[in-house]
This record gives sequence, structure tokens and C-alpha cells, in this order.
Amino acid sequence: MPIEQTRASGERLAHLDHDQLRQLVGLIEHDPTADPFPVLGWDAVVWVVGNATQAAHFYRTAFGMQLVAYTGPETGNRDHKAFVLQSGAVRFVLTGGVDPASPLLDRHRRHGDGIADIALEVPDVDRAVAHARTAGATILEEPHERTDAHGTVRLAAIATYGDTRHTLVDRSRYRGPYLPGFVACTDVRRSPLFQALDHVVGNVELGQMDRWVGFYNRVMGFTNMAEFIGADIATEYSALMSKVVANGNHLVKFPLNEPAIGRRRSQIDEYLQFHDGPGVQHLALATGDIVRSVDALRAAGVEFLDTPGTYYTDPALRARIGEVRVPIQELAARGILVDRDEDGYLLQIFTKPLGDRPTVFFELIERHGSLGFGKGNFQALFEAIEREQERRGNI
Ligand SMILES: [Fe+2]
Repeated sequence: MPIEQTRASGERLAHLDHDQLRQLVGLIEHDPTADPFPVLGWDAVVWVVGNATQAAHFYRTAFGMQLVAYTGPETGNRDHKAFVLQSGAVRFVLTGGVDPASPLLDRHRRHGDGIADIALEVPDVDRAVAHARTAGATILEEPHERTDAHGTVRLAAIATYGDTRHTLVDRSRYRGPYLPGFVACTDVRRSPLFQALDHVVGNVELGQMDRWVGFYNRVMGFTNMAEFIGADIATEYSALMSKVVANGNHLVKFPLNEPAIGRRRSQIDEYLQFHDGPGVQHLALATGDIVRSVDALRAAGVEFLDTPGTYYTDPALRARIGEVRVPIQELAARGILVDRDEDGYLLQIFTKPLGDRPTVFFELIERHGSLGFGKGNFQALFEAIEREQERRGNI
């Protein structure tokens, strides 16, 4: 299948070509003809928040995203407001209940601000659902169509960990700004601070990681990537186990974490408590220039985790990371981490939690050949996260 047809419309919209995707998110060659559950790419990350009006302002002004579509009372939607924001190929949908009886408010009461739906674009919704059903998935919405003046979308939804779902979308016959029911918006053009979604990480309960790895293997035909974090990666205080599954061309990657037994409560336990169950822990946003992105985000008030000063002076680390495109002093000044594997290196940094609860946060990632996730940085990262956890009194 030609690359043009295997790319999701989100990527087409942002004019990212095959080489750019390989560089940004580690896209690999893949023959989709034998794939039991072909996925074209990410469709949208759908959030439920306490105040979508203000969250949309935050992601536009601080994260440089562009408002492209809207639904709400003014457009005939009495239940909720939803703002569709875009940065490069990344689409966020921020939803918040308007009607006091909206089920979105019940969800928000339990989980706080967070991600309800990791929507994926697929070429054939019915085939995907049929395969998922055979593999034992819970079908939340059977395949159905929605139509407006811009055309027709075919949709279905399957359940994954916690209260998270995957909506499956075929938008090949649709030309509107997002979905039927949304109106297009014009917004000031900004230079995007991130261009693509690299991976979405789920936190699940102790002992459940392999169950969900098996779910993605069976239901979506995803394969396991090499990165594996076992009990060997731990600080004195906390630990996690992690495995990564990906679709055929690695556009869609899902690391799955579970807590491991530590001397004190792990960061995954803290998440599970404050999110009240499993859910999305972080989104990794791919950028071609992490230094520029971090500077712009910091200037807008976004807070990042501190990196221990010793990280940059440790001779073992300096020897391991070798030469990278940014001088080490520039990285140290911003707290940007480096990891290297046999394929290349990556630069990464993590924000503090985005909302009131210590749950979902972002990673910024700039890849240079590496297909990893920063395993070598887990130790340094854990120590930084735990200092924050300690300040919140949750260790
Ligand atoms: Fe990550």
C-alpha cells in the first residue's frame, strides 16, 4: 500500500511526510495486508476536563495549539462543550459538561481532568470491530454512521484499561473539520511547539500489565517492542514495570506501566489513587526542536520536572550519551534528558502534572534514530518525580 494511503488524515493535514514521521516518531516500514487490525494512526486524544472553556485557552496560549472546531450550546449541543485543538498532526478534543445531568460531569467527579478516549483512525471499522469481538474485547459502541453536509464518518468504540476507550474512526468519506456536529473555527496561526504524538502511556494496577499487553496483542495485533522495564529499574523508594506494544508501522505506541513493590509508595500507586483507577499517565509529544519548545513552554508558565544536577556531571552518563546535537550545557540549563541505544539517541523532558490531581502529564521527545523510550533515564526521572511526590506528602 502506498505510504500516502497508510497515513492518517491528521498527518496529511500537517503535511508530514514519511521521512519526517520516521525522524519524529520512529515510523518503520510495514506491510498492512496481513495485519488483522490495520491502524492508520492516531485520530484524536479526547479529554474530559472540569472547565473545557479555560482548558482550551491554556492549551492554545501555553502550548501553542490552534482551535479548529467546536461544539456546544451555541451549535445545538445542550449536553457539553468540546473544543478541537491541533498542533502539527496532534489533535486534542477538550470536553466539559454543561448540563448538570451530563455524564461527563460524573466521569470528572471520579477521575478529575484526564483522557477518556484514545481515538484511532482505521481503514475499516467493521473489520476492526469484528476482529476485536472475536478476540474478546468489550464493544462499547457498535459500528454506526454520522453524517452532515461535509460527508459521513463510520465510528465504533471498544473498551481498554479502566474507563478509557478507543473510538475507531473511518473518516475517508468525510471532509469536515472534525466530526458531524462540530463547526469549523478560525484561530490565529501559531508555529507548532510539537508536531506529532509519539506514544500514550497507560498506568494499570499491580499484576495487570501483562493482561493489557495481551489485550493489545490479541485484539489489535500489536507487537511488543524491545523496551522492557523490569524490577531492576528501581530507586530505594519506588519502582515500576513497563512493557511497550505498537502497531505495525510503530505510529501508535502504548507503553503500559504497573507498580512494582518498593520500600515506599510508587508513583504509579499515587496515580491509581488520585485518578481512582487505571488510565492514561502521559502523552509523549514529538518535536523537531526540543530546546525551542521547552523555552517557549517555560516562558508561558509550563513547569517541568527538575533533573538532578549530578545527571549532567556523572562521567558514566557523559560517556554513554556521547555526542548529541545540543551542547550539554544547553541541555543542563533546561533539564533536558538524553538517552542512547544502538539505533541513535533521543532528547526528552517531562512536565509536572497538568491539572490539580497528580495524574496526567506530558513528555516532550526529540528523536535522533533511537526507537526507545528513555529507559536509561528512568533512574534519574524517578528520583525527580519522587522529590515532587514527597513535597505533596504522598510517599
Ligand atoms: Fe514516555
